[in-house]
Amino acid sequence: ELGNYRHFMQKEIHEQPRAIADTLLAAVTTSSVSPGIFGPGAEDILRAVNGVRILACGTSYHAAKVAEYWMESLTGLPCRAEIASEYRYRDSVADPDTLIVTISQSGETRDTIDAMIQAKNLGHKYSLAICNVPESALVRTADLKFLTRAGPEIGVASTKAFTTQLVALFLLTLVLGRLRGKISDQQEKVWLEQLRELPGLVQQALALEPQIAAWAEHFADKHHALFLGRGVHYPIAMEGALKLKEISYIHAEAYPAGELKHGPLALVDKDMPVVAVAPNDILLEKLKSNLQEVRARGGELYVFADLDSHFTPQEGLHLLRLPTNAGPLSPIVHTVPLQILAYHAALCKGTDVDKPRNLAKSVTVE
Ligand code: F6R
Repeated sequence: ELGNYRHFMQKEIHEQPRAIADTLLAAVTTSSVSPGIFGPGAEDILRAVNGVRILACGTSYHAAKVAEYWMESLTGLPCRAEIASEYRYRDSVADPDTLIVTISQSGETRDTIDAMIQAKNLGHKYSLAICNVPESALVRTADLKFLTRAGPEIGVASTKAFTTQLVALFLLTLVLGRLRGKISDQQEKVWLEQLRELPGLVQQALALEPQIAAWAEHFADKHHALFLGRGVHYPIAMEGALKLKEISYIHAEAYPAGELKHGPLALVDKDMPVVAVAPNDILLEKLKSNLQEVRARGGELYVFADLDSHFTPQEGLHLLRLPTNAGPLSPIVHTVPLQILAYHAALCKGTDVDKPRNLAKSVTVE
């Protein structure tokens, strides 16, 4: 089943162009995305909602965090992402018309299922599950559903499930934005075109594997790493840090780069590699000055940029470029090199990549 791959994780990383294309194929046929992709009755429900609350765990929570940025900027709806195990036990203020979205690869994560039940008990009228497993408990509990088409994910570290969750969340953003008149026909067409190009862009990111593998050798003897991003790429930094820690056992933390000088800069020295997600967006110049602060303290920088941005070459700055800027879909493309980095760091360390110690693929107990 592994074919030419050494691990399921590597295979699943490389399956992402196909997984994304399949997820899109099931949902996007014409020049517009139908609300019906979220199930019968979805149009009326999605028209009625006045906000979105997304509940999930782990990697799926990071997808929720990306959606928080997309939703508020593109639909005007207030959106909040929250860790399911926190939400389920806290006294939250429920608004019946706020759509509850749960995200889960397995659909069997106890905390996520119970968070959705808790939301219903608190009076939330509408729920949507984004899930990779059709007959799972989560899917059965939700009113609306969207199935990602990643296919079975065997590696414990989630990869293709994450990027397809992001595709699903972008489709939800498109539909909500359209229903609320915040996204024009024209704009929707442009983004649908970009979605169709996404598998190709991910393929080009995968082609960076040899260079990223060479970088990974520098991580194998490190005890800590810092991941930086800004805006919608901050959750991608969080995901990169989670991947690295769970399969290579290197302690990694993610920070929004603007927070550096509020504390974590104290940690930076030559033994602390700093990975930066640095696409061409309005925050790039700000991010670059954050990175200079890292360099000034001797931190080695590993920067994932896009083509066409200017970085002055300097000692201690390692730079790789992704093929093009993917606009609002950029977080999806920028995820891929971080998965590859974690994978190769784990290879260097000789860990059990597909079954990292202490972890289970699906967390059905709390
Ligand atoms: C990380 C990872 C976990 C899961 C989390 C939620 O690589 O796999 O953090 O994302 O346990 O699992 P699901 O998505 O099945 O609810």
